Amino acid sequence: MRSLADGKQNAELLEAQSHIWNHIFNFINSMSLKSAVQLGIPDAIHSHGRPITISELIAALSLHPAKANCIPRLMRILVHSGFFARVKINQNDQEEGYILTNASQLLLKDHPLSVSPFLLAMLDPSLTRPWHYVRNWFQNDDPTPFATANGRTIWDFAGHEPEFNNLFNEAMASDARLAMNVLMNDCKGVFEGLRSLVDVGGGTGTVAKAIAKEFPQLECFVFDLPHVVAGLHGTHNLKYVGGSMFEAIPPADAILLKWIMHDWSHENCVKILKRCKEAIKGREGGKLIIIDMVMEQKEKEDHESKETELLFDMLMMVLYNSQERNEKEWAQLFSDAGFSNYKIISMLGLRSIIEVYP
Ligand SMILES: C[S@@+](CC[C@H](N)C(=O)[O-])C[C@H]1O[C@@H](n2cnc3c(N)ncnc32)[C@H](O)[C@@H]1O
Repeated sequence: MRSLADGKQNAELLEAQSHIWNHIFNFINSMSLKSAVQLGIPDAIHSHGRPITISELIAALSLHPAKANCIPRLMRILVHSGFFARVKINQNDQEEGYILTNASQLLLKDHPLSVSPFLLAMLDPSLTRPWHYVRNWFQNDDPTPFATANGRTIWDFAGHEPEFNNLFNEAMASDARLAMNVLMNDCKGVFEGLRSLVDVGGGTGTVAKAIAKEFPQLECFVFDLPHVVAGLHGTHNLKYVGGSMFEAIPPADAILLKWIMHDWSHENCVKILKRCKEAIKGREGGKLIIIDMVMEQKEKEDHESKETELLFDMLMMVLYNSQERNEKEWAQLFSDAGFSNYKIISMLGLRSIIEVYP
């Protein structure tokens, strides 16, 4: 006869098994979402203008007829993960239709703050393949799992593979549009009073364009590797400059570093910060403006925020052999690079603005 203890043991055993199953198959959530975006499902729902039934959705997509019957299953998992919702078409009838949620609104191709380019780049095989080499990387002397998988470190790879370069720059530009939208609404004060600013590692200039537009008197420079800024043209208050931040950074009142520091080791960050310090030398009110994550902040301790921080930290390890940092680690960087003070402004969701003073 089975005892109560056996019953409890079995329940725990099966719970542990399902915990493992969910973690084994977590990638299916990402890949289902990627397929839905590639098939244009969010756009099809949006264009319909009212809740769309499954047969209307199937008719709106470009599908092989033998596969159409699998769409309800793709929709079911994406309803479960919060990307679509089902609602009654009208009060009197049982028929249901799909609508977008806040998250899938942000996946529309033409949404001004669309996150789709970021999703498509991050789930491109060049960025997912490295995960198969993490074990090897722990045991060999390759610089990163990215390099093991793709034969070169990420910036070298981007310099040789124009398609990847575009995909990556578009992903950064899409993040920059959303971040700048929030930043210009909530804390544009950080740019007030400046006469010049260099966006170091500024990609194709989305961040600098937003600042230059809002502050027409401010002279803005986008400084990035030559293959990133090649062929880009500025305006009266925005210029593109190619070069390496490890060598020299154009002088200015402020140096902006958005999503740069988390790409580099402590030693390399100190080198970059020292170059930044030289660039603001002698400028009254000179400062660095860093936009990056500050891990383990008290107000961001909920389970989901914690998970996002840990996921980003692992991503940094695999792509760059770098890391996300908590306040203590940031403070150590600033002091090792010879800065005297800093201020954290927590205003950008999981990222913060850190002003650093010489
Ligand atoms: C993660 S992206 C961030 C782009 C942009 N700041 C943003 O947040 O949208 C890092 C950027 O650093 C640039 N980068 C890498 N090495 C660099 C170097 N040695 N000098 C200048 N920029 C560099 C890359 O080309 C890329 O555009």
